[in-house]
Amino acid sequence: MCGIVGYIGKKQAYPILIKGLKRLEYRGYDSAGVAMIGECGELNVYKTKGKVDNLTEYCNDKDVSGCVGIAHTRWATHGEPSARNAHPHYSRSRNLAIIHNGIIENYADIKVRLQAEGVEFRSDTDTEVLVQLVEYIMEKKNLPLLEAVQVALHQVIGAYAIAILDRREPRQIVAARKQSPLVVGIGEDEFFLGSDASPIVEYTDRVVYLEDGNIALIRLDEELRVITILGEEQELKVKTVDIDLGQIEKGGYEHFMLKEIFEQPECLMNCMRGRINVEGNHVTLSAMIDHRQRLLGAKRIVMVACGTSWHAGLVGKQLFESLCGIPCEVEYASEFRYRNPVVTKDDVVIAISQSGETADTLAAVQLAKERGAFIYGVCNAIGSSIPRATDTGTYIHVGPEIGVASTKAFTGQVAVLSMLALCLAKERGSVSDEQYGEMVKELTLMPRKMELALKTNEQIRHLAPIFTYAKNCLYLGRGYNFPVALEGALKLKEISYIHAEGYPAAEMKHGPIALIDSEMPVFVIATHDHLYEKVISNIQEVRARGGRVTALVTEGDTRIQKYADHVVTLPDTLECFQPLLASIPLQLLAYHIAVCKGKDVDRPRNLAKSVTVE
Ligand code: AGP
Ligand code: GLU
Repeated sequence: MCGIVGYIGKKQAYPILIKGLKRLEYRGYDSAGVAMIGECGELNVYKTKGKVDNLTEYCNDKDVSGCVGIAHTRWATHGEPSARNAHPHYSRSRNLAIIHNGIIENYADIKVRLQAEGVEFRSDTDTEVLVQLVEYIMEKKNLPLLEAVQVALHQVIGAYAIAILDRREPRQIVAARKQSPLVVGIGEDEFFLGSDASPIVEYTDRVVYLEDGNIALIRLDEELRVITILGEEQELKVKTVDIDLGQIEKGGYEHFMLKEIFEQPECLMNCMRGRINVEGNHVTLSAMIDHRQRLLGAKRIVMVACGTSWHAGLVGKQLFESLCGIPCEVEYASEFRYRNPVVTKDDVVIAISQSGETADTLAAVQLAKERGAFIYGVCNAIGSSIPRATDTGTYIHVGPEIGVASTKAFTGQVAVLSMLALCLAKERGSVSDEQYGEMVKELTLMPRKMELALKTNEQIRHLAPIFTYAKNCLYLGRGYNFPVALEGALKLKEISYIHAEGYPAAEMKHGPIALIDSEMPVFVIATHDHLYEKVISNIQEVRARGGRVTALVTEGDTRIQKYADHVVTLPDTLECFQPLLASIPLQLLAYHIAVCKGKDVDRPRNLAKSVTVE
């Protein structure tokens, strides 16, 4: 899931490439590199292990001149993170340089074949095989780069977004994609390339999203050409993008994650805008208007997702089952895609993905589609692969999420699933008009209530140092708050590297209770709902074993203070919307613990923002 940037024009490429890489660093930061055609026609490649800053430091005394270049930030799949395995990779003659996002699955076979022909390799990556293959074909068949790329791509199995420079053709970049995203930006006498539009929007709003199997021939002073790997010329589909760059910057917060946590009230408003009417008593989703019959006819809903998006799916399941009476399953996309699942044409499959690029979720969508299901996307990144592969969907509209730990996307996903459940429930008549009205009204109040939930920040910042010593933590919740417990635990694991588990509070006594002692912090979501009394009993079970309890409670609660070491108070809301509030203090808790431990909150080790490989 690397980030790709490219530039060809009249300006110096290096500053544009570096800025673009920084915007894409969320996609991976194992290494970074650039390839540029210098002013004397040489093809320079510079690359270093680690983040983009390491690269710029390394390049301080290098010749970074030139108006044509490609750059890459890597999340390793094949070959350890190192300068050697960093992209760009040269071909044997050093006439070509490639950057790649994806996996060449049959790289080992191709490598053996090329080695038998005397080709020597300089890295352990699958990517280098591709550039060596292209050069081999160019030499063997005496083909220009574009045609050699077409031939080579017929031989490779896997996923790729690639960009290639040829030293002998200094006014050209050849790029191609299959299953990994790639966008070409069209400026005045210049072109840009990006894994998404964020490195491009500063310069132009005219972009072409390459489709699977497309190759872009980007030449200075010529029209952009898009050709399929079979050589068919494609009509250019130029789109206008509208991304506010201010959204991408940190906006005064120390970390993107904190900024994104605090953006949630506004994000929720954006998410509901135009969907809930001004009177606050009715929800309309365009997907529901366009596909009413198909959605109402659903015999079952299956949600496919990974990580945080999967947790949002678990909240969705309770909404669809309790409000709409529709049987619902939530599947890890990675398991679903390889399990030969029973999917029929009467099913609606909801793919939930912030990035819209998660490879497992995309593959699950494709499988469900082959089996005739109707596919509904709940995504954030506009124009990304998953929404393009679905029949319909609803964007969560929370803006770019840069912090690797997902926060505002979770609440955005839960909000969209809530709106969808309300639309379906209303149409199916499974909730009374009164209940429906009450719920819609409550949703409109959530941004304000989220602001109140954010007021717990100071208290949590002060509590956080107490927990930095912990090796393990337990998160407990029931009903709608069980997914919140899972999500709280995931946040802590991801950014503070403390092992944490989320558990249904009552299930604790069937095993995890054995772990409880005075060293083990236990976070309990104990807000007012129909299981409140039972959760109090669960808290007492923890206390009886010397456990340290921090409880999230509803304002006005007077009982839990007696049993808990710390109490964090949240505004009251309907049970089904509690995840929208209860997730906030847990996001803040993970954030402050990680900050206290000095961890790299926005770019935790071993992780990447969007996992576009299996
Ligand atoms: C969340 O904090 C994670 N970094 C991760 O679990 C993420 O939710 C998962 O990879 C799914 O991503 P997606 O929503 O972009 O598909
Ligand atoms: N497979 C390539 C590598 O390991 C690219 C990885 C990716 O896109 O995540 O270098």
